[in-house]
Amino acid sequence: MNPVLLTNLSDGIYTITINRPDKLNALNQEVLRSLNQELDTIYADNNIKSVIITGSGPKAFVAGADISEFNQLDEAQSREMAKAGQDLFFRIERSPKPIVACVNGFALGGGCELAMSCHFRIASPNAQFGQPEVNLGIIPGYGGTQRLVQLIGKGRALELIMSGNLIDANTALQYGLVNYIVPQAEILDKAFSLLAAAHTKAPLAIANSIKAVNAAWNESVNGYEVEANLFGDCFITADCKEGIQAFIEKRKPHFTGH
Ligand code: COA
Repeated sequence: MNPVLLTNLSDGIYTITINRPDKLNALNQEVLRSLNQELDTIYADNNIKSVIITGSGPKAFVAGADISEFNQLDEAQSREMAKAGQDLFFRIERSPKPIVACVNGFALGGGCELAMSCHFRIASPNAQFGQPEVNLGIIPGYGGTQRLVQLIGKGRALELIMSGNLIDANTALQYGLVNYIVPQAEILDKAFSLLAAAHTKAPLAIANSIKAVNAAWNESVNGYEVEANLFGDCFITADCKEGIQAFIEKRKPHFTGH
């Protein structure tokens, strides 16, 4: 049987391709389990500096959670499933290494939620986004009601979630849901060039940027306080000394991640 995830490490960029093209890359339990294992690798492996998540085939990024698994669920199990999906997507959102979604087609339901948990999104022209769960009599369960509001605002989020309507790549760009639209054949190259540029920066500064920005949506912490503390943490790193010294000496910095 084909693996549900394909992975490739090149120039420090770890590409994960969700590989169920016949089912439009729907997220079944096997995919979610495998993604969790990949997150273990991403967090632990120093050779991985950043990550791309995309879908297999020309049609879909991910067309949602696998609806064929829904029939077997009772109330407690469905709650547990939502919680487990949320926890997985938190691991993506909180990754200290940049994770970019290359949305190469449908990003619906759990697919839209997966893309939104990534640090930013690049779309191909055929990408379509939506939270069509109301069509099944349910609501988004993997963080969609929260992250869609963060990214496009409450009114637009509620309209999308209540209608189940899909939006195209241009609308997603206009809403700020995606950062770029590039031809499908070039979508990975675009991510590669953005991530390669990020690799030239201080890794701890990148990790702390992600942490500080995430604090903006964490009501249990004061984001400004988090920012000031992380700013201070950066100041005692060797990379900070190197960055300042390199500026003074009018040369490019050489960061080591310390
Ligand atoms: N879960 C399980 N299987 C899915 C799926 C999902 N979320 N989305 C698509 N598939 C499967 C289809 O059942 C079909 O399988 P089959 O060939 O064995 O019948 C295959 O993927 C191709 O999908 P199909 O519906 O034939 O493609 P289409 O181009 O006609 O329509 C969509 C594409 C995305 C509009 C349609 O597949 C769809 O509405 N999917 C569900 C989206 C959704 O509600 N997601 C949120 C889930 S909570």
